[in-house]
Amino acid sequence: MAMRSFSLLGLLGLSGFAAAAAGINDFDWDSITPSRKLEYHPCYEELQCARLVVPLDWLDDTNPHTVAVAIAKLPAKVPDDDPAFGGTIFTNPGGPGGSGIGFLLREGHILQDVADGNRSYEILSWDPRGVGFTSPKADCYGDIATRDVAELQEKAIGPLDASEDALKRHWARTQAYGKLCADSAVNGSILPFLTTPSVVRDMVAILDEIHELRDTESRSAEATDGGDGQKRLELRKADVPRIQYWGFSYGSILGNTFASMEPGRVGRLIIDGISNANDYMAGTWLKNLQDTEKIVEYFYKSCFEAGDKCALRKPSDSKWEDLRTRVDDFKAQVADVPISVFNDKRIVVISATEILTAFRRPVYDPLKSFARLGQVLSDALEGNYTLLLEDIDSVGPKLHDVCSLQNSSTIATISDKDASHNIMCGDGEDATKLGLPYFRDYIQELKGQSETLGWYWATIRFACSGLAIRPKWRFTGPFTTPEHDASIVEGRPAAPLLFFSTRLDPVTPLRNAVAMAENHPGAAWVVQESTGHCALSTPSECSKKIVQEYLEFGTVPESGTSCQPDCDPWNPCEEDKLAMKVNIAEHIA
Ligand SMILES: *[C@@H]1O[C@H](CO)[C@@H](O)[C@H](O)[C@H]1NC(C)=O
Ligand SMILES: *[C@@H]1O[C@H](CO)[C@@H](O)[C@H](O)[C@H]1NC(C)=O
Ligand SMILES: *[C@@H]1O[C@H](CO)[C@@H](O)[C@H](O)[C@H]1NC(C)=O
Ligand SMILES: *[C@@H]1O[C@H](CO)[C@@H](O)[C@H](O)[C@H]1NC(C)=O
Repeated sequence: MAMRSFSLLGLLGLSGFAAAAAGINDFDWDSITPSRKLEYHPCYEELQCARLVVPLDWLDDTNPHTVAVAIAKLPAKVPDDDPAFGGTIFTNPGGPGGSGIGFLLREGHILQDVADGNRSYEILSWDPRGVGFTSPKADCYGDIATRDVAELQEKAIGPLDASEDALKRHWARTQAYGKLCADSAVNGSILPFLTTPSVVRDMVAILDEIHELRDTESRSAEATDGGDGQKRLELRKADVPRIQYWGFSYGSILGNTFASMEPGRVGRLIIDGISNANDYMAGTWLKNLQDTEKIVEYFYKSCFEAGDKCALRKPSDSKWEDLRTRVDDFKAQVADVPISVFNDKRIVVISATEILTAFRRPVYDPLKSFARLGQVLSDALEGNYTLLLEDIDSVGPKLHDVCSLQNSSTIATISDKDASHNIMCGDGEDATKLGLPYFRDYIQELKGQSETLGWYWATIRFACSGLAIRPKWRFTGPFTTPEHDASIVEGRPAAPLLFFSTRLDPVTPLRNAVAMAENHPGAAWVVQESTGHCALSTPSECSKKIVQEYLEFGTVPESGTSCQPDCDPWNPCEEDKLAMKVNIAEHIA
């Protein structure tokens, strides 16, 4: 099945587009019976998978409903009982609503490569509640074809800011979408139980199960080798299991929430691409786009300086602003008189929105996309829209081959958008009373922050305006932890928290890392001098060393430490230096 056919949410995330070694649907999750004890099964060629049963409602033990969490791990390069074994690292790719399983398939080896120094780690991820292969899945439509049609209709209205009429039509549809979700939420529905504190509680359950399984295994090893296993067991029993966690983007919210709710469960905690937890939990989404336009400017400047390497740079250009002027003129021209082209026999209209759309992926991932953007724009200015059409299609809704899916037991083909909406809207304050006039201003405010992403970013909170289901459990802070104690003290982290940010991030600006780290005593923030979403999307030997030393010793560098990347958009790394792939948000194109 084509990898493009499943839709992963990456509003704030790293869910990828590229094909992985094993496809997400190359394993039948129905072949695993969910269990209350962690039981791994071989899957996806080199991974181990499990479905762990946890309560639907962590706050009410009389509620009989359960969730089966889909978990996968990439085993460490050494056995668990090897002295070099460094334990399990939990990872989350962001979203909210990003699939951890998909992330592990694509990026597990990169995470392991960066983490492994003197020690070898196993990398674990999971599909959070409502997402991917975790069941029950959040699905307001319950039918792929109806969802596809709805998404196409929505797209046909145009962007939120297209016109007053478009805004009102989107408003009406959004209220109906909320009703659809509410109507689907019958007894036992996952929708009121999706929010971040429940996911934190799931993580504690997974953590405890991992340790219990290891203890069981070392007990049986002890029975055969005598002595050693028992000693290891006693050592671990001296403390509660502690997590090693590495989260990206929304995964920084999850990590920050975990540390703030469960400080005594923190062993190591790295977060990269930092969201402002207070802004996110308020549901306002106003602290994301502060540096976005600086990246657009960086594109034009660096393209100008790159000379022949950038197709948009012409011999007649005497300064970087000349490039920008040509593109802006073209944008104004198609805004005035849109161009229509055929993609095969399909009619595609190119207006200003489509030009802005071409920037969406590149601002997230300059390293892999700037050179292409130069070509896309250069071609378009010369009347060749082939590449631009590919970009427009890559963010638009896709029609599924419904017939071939009808009898399929795989569930990754169903969108995770409903999970995404319900997680973030539930985490945030109720937005159903805000009203259309509020959103009219809100859209303008975000467009004022960023012309390139603002109009699109506004759709996130806009979707919450119709979702009336309120979550059972919210955590709104404070986002702080007690001082760490490396000698292992109950209720305290075993190490300070470690924050990473790029210099210019399109949706999680550096200032968030500074502000969030300040609230955690001893925490440090590191700035990697690259551009794009999350430090790990650009290779850096310097950042890698900091990660390895932190994992091994629990030590952090001074806050404000600067790391150089190993390459930049116009001077790519060697082939073997793989960087994490960044997904652009797939919301309303
Ligand atoms: C919800 O479902 C559970 C389990 O099936 C059942 O015990 C409970 O009575 C139901 N509650 C309502 C309000 O229908
Ligand atoms: C248009 O651009 C594409 C991609 O760069 C290229 O393959 C194709 O040959 C171009 N078409 C024309 C007519 O130049
Ligand atoms: C799906 O299952 C139905 C009934 O079990 C069968 O009639 C139909 O041919 C199947 N469709 C496909 C595409 O396999
Ligand atoms: C790994 O081992 C070397 C040699 O013992 C040591 O210098 C280094 O600090 C260790 N840790 C890391 C993260 O390199």
